Amino acid sequence: MGYIPDEVAEEVLQKSDIVQVVSEYVLLKRSGKNYFGLCPFHQEDTPSFSVAPDKQIFYCFGCHAGGNVFKFLMLKEGLSYPEAVRRLAQKVGVYIPQIQGSYNIQEQKKKQRPYKIMAAAAEFFHQNLLGPEGLAARNYLQNRDVTGEIIKTFQIGYAPAGWDNLIKYLTSKGCKEKELERLGLIIKNRQGTSYYDRFRNRVILPIKDAAGRIVGFGGRTLDGSTPKYLNTPETSLFNKRHLLYGLHLSRAAIRDSGYAVVMEGYMDVVAAHRLGIKNVVASLGTALTREQVKLLMRYTDEIVIAYDADAAGVKAAIRGLDLIQQMGCRVKILQIPDGKDPDEYFRLNGVKEWNKLIKSAYNLIDYKLHVAVAERIPTTAAEKIRVLQQVLPNLAHIKDPVDKEESIKRVASVLNVSWETVTSEFKRYIAKQEKNVVKQGKIWVNTGKFVNNTHNTNLNTHLTDARQQAEYLLLGLILTDFNLFSIVKEQITIDHFQNKELKKIFSLLMQSNLPVNEPARLMQRLDDKGQQVLGRLLSEKIPAGNKLSALEDCIKIIKKQAGKRRQEELLHQLKEAEQLGDQKRVIELLQELQQLHHTINTDLP
Ligand code: UTP
Ligand code: MN
Repeated sequence: MGYIPDEVAEEVLQKSDIVQVVSEYVLLKRSGKNYFGLCPFHQEDTPSFSVAPDKQIFYCFGCHAGGNVFKFLMLKEGLSYPEAVRRLAQKVGVYIPQIQGSYNIQEQKKKQRPYKIMAAAAEFFHQNLLGPEGLAARNYLQNRDVTGEIIKTFQIGYAPAGWDNLIKYLTSKGCKEKELERLGLIIKNRQGTSYYDRFRNRVILPIKDAAGRIVGFGGRTLDGSTPKYLNTPETSLFNKRHLLYGLHLSRAAIRDSGYAVVMEGYMDVVAAHRLGIKNVVASLGTALTREQVKLLMRYTDEIVIAYDADAAGVKAAIRGLDLIQQMGCRVKILQIPDGKDPDEYFRLNGVKEWNKLIKSAYNLIDYKLHVAVAERIPTTAAEKIRVLQQVLPNLAHIKDPVDKEESIKRVASVLNVSWETVTSEFKRYIAKQEKNVVKQGKIWVNTGKFVNNTHNTNLNTHLTDARQQAEYLLLGLILTDFNLFSIVKEQITIDHFQNKELKKIFSLLMQSNLPVNEPARLMQRLDDKGQQVLGRLLSEKIPAGNKLSALEDCIKIIKKQAGKRRQEELLHQLKEAEQLGDQKRVIELLQELQQLHHTINTDLP
């Protein structure tokens, strides 16, 4: 990876948003003007990891990892600095001239090629939908209320009837049949003599990954042929388990609304967008996988399941829901009335009704009870115990004691058993769980999970004395109010600083023409340790009160302590000079000591 010019890196920095980047890895919640979440660099249960959107930096109060967005990617993805800059440059659309070896260019092109082919195929389908051949498909979509704008947003297309439209188009653009086959776009005929298009006479829904790259297609029949939806098979790009339809369009809305709605069908998501409901994704026709839940958990910790009411295998679905809860996500289940799917529901009802429906969604316990009772009201003790067993794990997940109490009451009431029965079963369950944990050695907390522990320096150990603490506070004050810097500059020089890291930051601030009000750019000029310390300086609350007098105290302490050091030095030199009989030097030194005496003995707070 080659050298990246500073101004290019700065452009990337300007165009990127650290909150968005970090959100791909950490579930962030807003608190005041900053965001907080569980630190991705060390194991913790309460969030001490912070991201400041105004400063464009992150800092963990627990392990002291800190820096700008590049630093975050370097730590999280194990990238080198140029790799991190390039990765982000690609995302934000900054062109970085390739001054690297030709081998790497070829490597990179090779990696991008399949995505380019998929994009070209999508564009081919899309243009076909808009052209004369797409009339019937356009009518079909119109009948389903899919408007022109939505067609564009989802880049919906049409694969024409005929066996080789796509092959002809893509091979004319220089694609090899073999690579089209590998991407699942075309299929070899039975004789193995030639290929034909996989998607024919179907409405095409491109499936994108979270980064917005097309990785597969779903093709809906227009003429009732089966299957209703033909999908891209598993390929190097297309892995259903790791994909959610519509995620690239819904990420922001999911974060803003605080929850994600998971639907079953492509068309459900498309229809939701028509009404402006954007925090929705579709699970591509399978039960939610662990990987899909993880994807969603980058943006939220609440998932609302809005599967078709008539969904086959509700029981199998329930097992999947427990998994979501175990992964630390809240789960709600939405029941769409009259056995409709979301698409059909939207046709008859507006956003208001939808929001009401969301509010009325079941939590996991109530949903299980609902399903159990809907099937057949449990009457025998054995039946009741069986249902009870199903909800105990979910009860265990309720943290709020009042909520827990309420749920226990509801369980008792629905099953028509006493509150005591539920409580004692629950206690037995908890005791058994705890025993299991110990027995299986499942104590997972802090099992050496400190990832990348190199940055886990405790700065406190370096700030043991009053002088270094004053240096720290002084810089903190300057960084919160840059007007204070002019006062400092008159009295403090780089040589006054004792702490190495703080000294580096101070000297950086002393350099004019630096973007002092843009911490993320300042970070660019610091090494790892420096970035960490600056991150801490910018993230920790500087004690309130009179800033000016706090600053003056810091200056006094620093000067006094620096003076003391100098005094020791001078006394040492004085001794030497006396031993050498150097009278002139002795007088000089005595004079300097006299001056120092004044500084050292000024009153301190
Ligand atoms: P549905 O049959 O509920 O689809 O399957 P839908 O979205 O309501 O279909 P429309 O409204 O008739 O167009 C739900 C999802 O299951 C997958 C698709 O992802 C579909 O959106 N599926 C379904 C397939 O992959 N293949 C199929 O043959 C059917
Ligand atoms: Mn449908």
